Order: sequence, then structure tokens, then C-alpha cells
Amino acid sequence: MKRITKAIFPVAGLGTRFLPATKANPKEMLPIVDKPLIQYAVEEAVAAGVTELIFVTSSSKRAIEDHFDSNFELEATLEERGKQDLLDIVKGILPEGVSCAYIRQKSPQGLGHAVLCAKQLVMNEPFAVLLADDLIDGDKSCLQQMVDKFVETQSSIVAVQQIHRDETKKYGIVDVPSSTEIFSAIRGIVEKPDSEKAPSNLGVVGRYILTPRVFALLEQTNKGSGGEIQLTDAIAKLLFEEQVYAYQFTGKRYDCGTKLGYLEATIAYALKHPELAHDFKRTLQAFMHD
Ligand code: UTP
Repeated sequence: MKRITKAIFPVAGLGTRFLPATKANPKEMLPIVDKPLIQYAVEEAVAAGVTELIFVTSSSKRAIEDHFDSNFELEATLEERGKQDLLDIVKGILPEGVSCAYIRQKSPQGLGHAVLCAKQLVMNEPFAVLLADDLIDGDKSCLQQMVDKFVETQSSIVAVQQIHRDETKKYGIVDVPSSTEIFSAIRGIVEKPDSEKAPSNLGVVGRYILTPRVFALLEQTNKGSGGEIQLTDAIAKLLFEEQVYAYQFTGKRYDCGTKLGYLEATIAYALKHPELAHDFKRTLQAFMHD
């Protein structure tokens, strides 16, 4: 039985919706309260059993490498000042036994192209893909739920959620027998269709478990929607060869690639942050009454 031990984090996008904040800083380093988005995604992957983290980066993403590396000067200073709690936080960013690899995507040619860049590091194993700008909060993480399903099926699985019909142009949309089923075999998948052509109201969000066959299919995939090489198009080809499932996860997803979703996540996480919850709630209440 195969297990998921490798995860790809495509972080080479331009993040144009967050300019100018993302001119020199990666979108994935934007914090939700006090932790960057990418760290939430890494923690989700590690908790689900991943031990090899593969980041597909670009020239402006050096901060991500630094974040997951040791910072001796900072650690020594915190130690000297007796700030053990902060030292533990800094040292715990990358748990023991977990390794990181970085590979460059030379130009942003799309999510499918970014995933293909990691082919040599993944080799012939099933793997996870996590998009850090989809922050998903739940009792059991989205990836853990998907890994549980993978243990049963040994097949590719994409996370989906019900979306408004007028939003189909923002998502990959799956064709399934019934959109009320939590877990179902996909009949088709299409990237950013017009609402009248969308096969369902189930949109793909940024969590995937894929079999390595998808790499060969990505190699044969031409530019699609937006002039980019789309992962969705390779998954559409995979369907002709293997079973692929859509999974409606349990949990709340925040689309942190948009300003509104990012602000919503910030408020939600601040309201449950142990240090901040009480005071932040009062601040918000006062704000609403002004
Ligand atoms: P997005 O569609 O959110 O694009 O990519 P983006 O460039 O990050 O942001 P906007 O739309 O310009 O604001 C989805 C995910 O795929 C990665 C992104 O980093 C993000 O995690 N990606 C996208 C790549 O790694 N390479 C690409 O060529 C495109």
C-alpha cells in the first residue's frame, strides 16, 4: 500500500492581486495574525504524514527558503535574552525528520507547469499538492481527510467545495454524478468554465493528491485557460486512464489569494488566537459601533 510522504508547494506565482505587497515579498509569506500562509500549509502537510516538502519557487521567493532555514543569529540572541518561548517557536518551524527541497520555475507558466517542475524530486510516487493561499480550517485538516480517503482508494483525489454558480470562471469545475455526494468519482473536469457551461457547482480548491502518471500527462499538456499550463487539463487526461475522485472536505476555506478572503481569515484566526481573542473581540465590537 502506498503512502503520501511528499508534498509540492507551488509558490512561484506572481501574486498580482496583492500588489504592491507582493512586489518583493512572496504572497505565501503574508501572515495570518503571526504565522505566514506557507507555514499553515506546511503544518497541515506534516501533520498528515508528509516528510519531504518540495517548494517550486521563483526569484522573488527567497524569503520562503529563509523562513524554513535556521537563523543562528536570531536563535543565539533569543537564547541570550532568555526568551525560551520565542526560541521554541522559531526552532519548531520545521519539525525534526522533515526535509525541504527547492526547485525554480523559471517563468510563471501556470500551476500545471509548476507541478511538473517537481517531477524529478517526486519520482514515481503519489504525492500531495497544497496551495498555501487556500487556508482551510477544521477539526481534522483537509489534507488528513484526503489522505484517509487515499488509504482506502490508492487513487488521485481533488478537494472540492460548493461554489456560487456565478463564480465558475474562477475555478476548475468537476463533473460528478451528484454534487451532493461527499466523495465521488469524477467524470470530467474543466478549468474556469462560463457558468452556463459548468458541469456542476463543485469548484476545485488548493489540495490535491495525485498519482505520478500525471507528470507524463502534464508534459503533453498545452497552454490552456489564461495562456497557462493548467493542472486541471492534465487531470482531465488522467481520467481516461485512472479513477480520480472529488472530495467535499469538512472545514472552512479562506481564499487568501484575494484581499477579502485574506481579511476574513485574519479576523477569524485573531478571534481564536489565545493571546488576542479577548481584546480583539472588544476592539472589533467597538469598531462596529463607531
Ligand atoms: P494563482 O492563480 O493564485 O496565481 O496561483 P498567483 O500568481 O499566485 O496570484 P495572482 O492571480 O497573480 O494574484 C495558484 C497557485 O499556483 C502557484 C501560485 O504561487 C499559487 O500558489 N503558481 C501559479 C505557480 O507556482 N506558478 C505559476 O506559474 C502559477
